Amino acid sequence: MKSVLVTGGAGFIGSNFIRYLLEVEPNVKIVNLDALTYAGSLANLANLPDDTRYIFIQGNICDIHLVEATLIDHDIDTIVHFAAESHVDRSILKPDPFIQSNIVGTFNLLKTAHTIWNKKNQHEVRFHHISTDEVFGSLSSEDPAFSETTAYDPRSPYSASKAASDHLVRAYYHTYGLPITITNCSNNYGPYQFPEKLIPLVIFNALQLKPLPIYGDGKQIRDWLYVQDHCEAIHLVLKNGKLGETYNIGGENHPFNIEVVNMICEILDELKPISKSYSSLIHYVPDRPGHDRRYAMNIEKIKNELGWFPKHNLSDGLRKTVEWYLANQGWVQSVMLEDNYQN
Ligand code: NAD
Ligand code: DAU
Repeated sequence: MKSVLVTGGAGFIGSNFIRYLLEVEPNVKIVNLDALTYAGSLANLANLPDDTRYIFIQGNICDIHLVEATLIDHDIDTIVHFAAESHVDRSILKPDPFIQSNIVGTFNLLKTAHTIWNKKNQHEVRFHHISTDEVFGSLSSEDPAFSETTAYDPRSPYSASKAASDHLVRAYYHTYGLPITITNCSNNYGPYQFPEKLIPLVIFNALQLKPLPIYGDGKQIRDWLYVQDHCEAIHLVLKNGKLGETYNIGGENHPFNIEVVNMICEILDELKPISKSYSSLIHYVPDRPGHDRRYAMNIEKIKNELGWFPKHNLSDGLRKTVEWYLANQGWVQSVMLEDNYQN
């Protein structure tokens, strides 16, 4: 791993990953290819640990000529593919960009990597694809957690587009021998997350004393993963993961959504008290169509094969997250000024 192309590196997880990789890999050069959609921001990449090894290219992964030129010009040997439309609610309102970026964009990257890396040894290059637990569908309270062999059963345009991209990545491994790995991870949270996702949205709204919307009965369950734990897992898979393999990544925290929101309110009550509890802002709203009830990840494979496990429990991770948003009001204010910020 000498020259790494990160796609979608101006988004939430990608920007955390670039920061992490610059710290743990002192000799690696990183090229970040990002279209800067509403979800991407260069503010997420301010004050990188060593920006002499970092290059930003604004562009779309659907632009095959740009992708080709980027791989050649920067002699890319590793692709870490985050770029995607990532928000389920937006995919319900307007699925079109999800099909383009998540399916066509991934196909372009695979096709170009295969062409350009054709003469390389399998162990000199790597295509790593970031996917989601949502491809496995929805669990009932009795079902076992998703494992790497659980059948795919996506239920939203977002998860269907991610499932399609996973299938394409595996097809390039089996058909053309492209050296790939895939990670499917659960809900991330932490610094630099755009406030359309539950945790940052609740923090942003609470700080403005606005209602905290809870979909349906608030008893849906997600498997919350602190973003730095996720970055550590991706790095380990890049270094020691087996070619062609998929690894599940999860946080092993499984509260109801309403419990997560109450935990955030309690932390804010302590760190930024007002005359009442922030929980008085909780407001139940109509449910998301096709709302997946429960996700849970079985992470035995990555634990046993690579020795990774999540270091943050939800209460520590949430406290760190709330503290980060309180301490980074410049970033919070810049996000609030963006055209696409809605609450
Ligand atoms: P995000 O929405 O915060 O960021 C996505 C980034 O991709 C943005 O910077 C955007 O500008 C860029 N992008 C989108 N379409 C592009 C295109 N066509 N060409 C170039 N750049 C483009 O997303 P995130 O939450 O950081 O998620 C990153 C990846 O992880 C996605 O693939 C997502 O499916 C996956 N994932 C996310 C979570 C989560 O909880 N956030 C969980 C599991 C998997
Ligand atoms: O599971 C991994 C997935 O997690 C990723 O693949 C997606 O990219 C990411 O967006 C996330 O999807 P979710 O739909 O689970 O995340 P979101 O933060 O949108 O919602 C989390 C839960 O909270 C979900 O059950 C819906 C609920 N919710 C969400 C919002 C935004 C609310 O109750 N109120 C809200 O306002």
